[in-house]
Amino acid sequence: MAPPKNRPLPGAMTDRNLALELVRVTEAAALAAARWIGLGDKNAADGAAVEAMRHAFDAVAIEGTVVIGEGEMDEAPMLYIGEKVGCGGPKMDIAVDPLEGTTLTAKGGPNAMATLALAEEGKFLHAPDIYMDKIAVGAGLPDGVVNLDDSVANNLRNLARAKRCDRSDLVVCMLDRDRHKQLLAHCREAGARVVLISDGDVAGVIATAMPDAEIDIYMGSGGAPEGVLAAAALRCVGGQMQGRLQYESEDQIERVRQMGHADPKRVFTCEQMAQGDVMFAATGVTTGAMLRGVRRTGTSAITHSIVMRSHSGTVRFIEGHHNLAQKTWTAT
Ligand code: FBP
Repeated sequence: MAPPKNRPLPGAMTDRNLALELVRVTEAAALAAARWIGLGDKNAADGAAVEAMRHAFDAVAIEGTVVIGEGEMDEAPMLYIGEKVGCGGPKMDIAVDPLEGTTLTAKGGPNAMATLALAEEGKFLHAPDIYMDKIAVGAGLPDGVVNLDDSVANNLRNLARAKRCDRSDLVVCMLDRDRHKQLLAHCREAGARVVLISDGDVAGVIATAMPDAEIDIYMGSGGAPEGVLAAAALRCVGGQMQGRLQYESEDQIERVRQMGHADPKRVFTCEQMAQGDVMFAATGVTTGAMLRGVRRTGTSAITHSIVMRSHSGTVRFIEGHHNLAQKTWTAT
């Protein structure tokens, strides 16, 4: 029997397909940020993306609460944690990174994008802007093939075995940071090849699930908010991820406790970071492995976006052709 109309399918957050509405929001942020590509001002690029995303949310028919955002209410004018967005509708929690890759944008580097994820109330891990230790692999591998608590050598050996390849065939992606010196040395000692990225670990994690990106595993620490967004994306395309919050002070531990985490050292799987039916959308600002960047020609621009949903497993790539002369915040 067909399910009754106007009722979500079992396990789905809503019957309505919000895909296009979400893409309009990431498109608005990407278009605004793209004006700042290569101009050397990462804060201006970020500010433009935040403002455009905030305004675009006004037209989305949800009652949304930002749970992963630009920071705490007293440090961010818009899209702060707890801010309400949307023009009314089902209650949803929202994770945003209006410009993932502020420095990439400022320098015209690859893989900058505008991102957001959506889930039912209470389904995202609440994480302040601290670091998270991450490990991720793509779909089709045995459960637990890699583990944050295992050694680099063991993880690479187990992954190579599961992929029926040699460790020297594996490609590890990580942020190019001094704090990863030891991790990098261990990967090289184990015989794996390494791709060092200057920024943008949401794209780095997602790359493990995109065969064309030729990344087998993501390792290392990056932003916790980016970790939750990446987990939401992996929930949609398949793959495994683990994350553990990292602390630089007692204050950060206290803040995490206040957010409701009884055990601040807990390891979270991607299913625990982004539970239930999740949607993820991103629009390229600069061209990367997954998305083309914004292409502007006079009064028009072309955007390239991805939107996906965990409940259906559908992944859509959307090319938007925009007449910039007709743009308003609410009619993107
Ligand atoms: P921004 O877009 O906020 O600049 O973040 C870029 C980024 O590379 C993230 O992808 C990553 O999670 C984080 O910064 C890593 O932080 P850090 O630069 O301190 O290592």
